[in-house]
Amino acid sequence: MAIRVVSTESMEIRASDDVVLVRQAVRKKSVALGFGLVDQTKVVTASSELARNTLDYGGGGRVHLETVENGTRSGLRVIFEDQGPGIPDIKLALTDGYTTGSGMGLGLSGAKRLSDEFEIDSKPGEGTRVSILRWK
Ligand SMILES: Nc1ncnc2c1ncn2[C@@H]1O[C@H](COP(=O)(O)OP(=O)(O)O)[C@@H](O)[C@H]1O
Ligand SMILES: [Mg+2]
Repeated sequence: MAIRVVSTESMEIRASDDVVLVRQAVRKKSVALGFGLVDQTKVVTASSELARNTLDYGGGGRVHLETVENGTRSGLRVIFEDQGPGIPDIKLALTDGYTTGSGMGLGLSGAKRLSDEFEIDSKPGEGTRVSILRWK
């Protein structure tokens, strides 16, 4: 069934403080949707990792928080976009422990595991878009 966007809110990710603001905004939306504490924490943790990547590897970007529904269920979709260097090998980047920085290499793979739907689209030299969705 087609996904309908009920409401949307965008924020810039330019500095570490913005990552904190993203966490807070995602928490707020998940509470408003009636997510339980475990689901709230899953989507907040995944969003935090992706916001960090947008900042650290993408050179900053934007996040879109969407309340969605598919006729029977409502959910929260969080989309991260940057115009950074992109990811040359997405499969490799999704491997547990793979990092080109000083992280643990568990952000992308963790975000995927914590989400019901996960999409990543990246083109070297153009940027990266990562979308996660958690249904209630
Ligand atoms: N937005 C992005 N732009 C460019 N590269 C990225 C982006 N997000 C992730 N990557 C690449 O994928 C790798 C794995 O990311 P992640 O699993 O979050 O681990 P970590 O952040 O610990 O490096 C990063 O080290 C980086 O090379
Ligand atoms: Mg990371």
